[in-house]
Amino acid sequence: MHQLVIEEFQNRFGASPTHIVRAPGRVNLIGEHTDYNDGFVLPMAIDRAIWIALRPRPDRRVLLHSLDFAEPTDFSLDNLTHAHGWSEYVRGIAWILQQQGFTPGGWEGTLASDVPVGAGLSSSAALELALLRAFWTVSDFEWDGARMAQLAQQADHGWVGIQSGIMDQMISALGMANHALLIDCRSLDVELVPLPDAIRVIILNTATRRGLVDSAYNERVAQCRIAANFFGVPALRDVSLAVFNTKAENLDKIIRRRARHVISENERTLQATSALRRGDAKTFGELMNASHESLRGDYEVSSHELNTMVQIARQQAGCYGARMTGAGFGGCAVALIEAVVTEDFVKSVEAAYTQETGLQPNIYICQAGDGEKVVSASQTSEVSKLRKSE
Ligand code: GLA
Repeated sequence: MHQLVIEEFQNRFGASPTHIVRAPGRVNLIGEHTDYNDGFVLPMAIDRAIWIALRPRPDRRVLLHSLDFAEPTDFSLDNLTHAHGWSEYVRGIAWILQQQGFTPGGWEGTLASDVPVGAGLSSSAALELALLRAFWTVSDFEWDGARMAQLAQQADHGWVGIQSGIMDQMISALGMANHALLIDCRSLDVELVPLPDAIRVIILNTATRRGLVDSAYNERVAQCRIAANFFGVPALRDVSLAVFNTKAENLDKIIRRRARHVISENERTLQATSALRRGDAKTFGELMNASHESLRGDYEVSSHELNTMVQIARQQAGCYGARMTGAGFGGCAVALIEAVVTEDFVKSVEAAYTQETGLQPNIYICQAGDGEKVVSASQTSEVSKLRKSE
């Protein structure tokens, strides 16, 4: 990708880029549909990313060619209007920066990605973080990962029109190689949790995605608000299982199930983090399994294909646990397995899933990668910024 994006830049602009930035996609290990309830999540950044090669422009234009789309994004920072598709994200980031009082500069570049789009691996958050970093290289604002994640989320809400939580942007900004990241989605405090060498995280793409995902997502967000109001708290994060068990009987049946998922998932996420810290993959896997059952039964965001994939994964030797991951309604499952069984696991799951569903899954053996960064030219630019502030 690195080479590809540079070559494309040279072909387009007949010169070398001044900066290369990249931001990764993510997979969530546990803590699903908890982020917009001010709760806990435990994702990791993956070793697949969006790359942008760029150079500053003397004017206030932004021009970006993507290797995956024929139409470039091309607009003036002084005249922001809505567009379609991926272009909306570029405009959204330009919009939020100006909205928040920053003065972004113009730039031109090329973009390449190996984060599959629409698979639930957060290609949009990766795009947003890469764009923020691209703007940073040609502007004069401080970089703070959590703050940038918030800006990306505000762009989603205010420009793109998606009510996303904060998990995807936070992990794309702050992930670290060989670690998962516990994120407190209220305070935005983070803790790195090392991933033991002897385990592998496998992403199992069901090759399905339901159109309903956005409306169902917004409906879940609304149901959680109703539940929080019922308990008289700002968010479901503030309700323990003990309080839930004593008070929930007067709650509407569906809302009660939604709340039970969120409240129990927060507890599972904290328990899973402790398990991972002590290298207890067995307990971690059991908590992943319980998370899936709760998402399937109480939160109702799984699908036939996800359930099939999860079941097949769990039947394999060396699998500690498996669950759907991300928003749901298709997309990916994630499994935690013993590293030594990886090859057999992948082959068997692939064959069994195709046999059961007739679909060809995509399976990614993932390493936890670093969060966004300036890949080259970073040294010079970091150093010059440091010098400026010294
Ligand atoms: C999507 C959202 C996240 C989070 C997950 C569910 O990926 O973008 O913010 O809510 O769904 O955990």
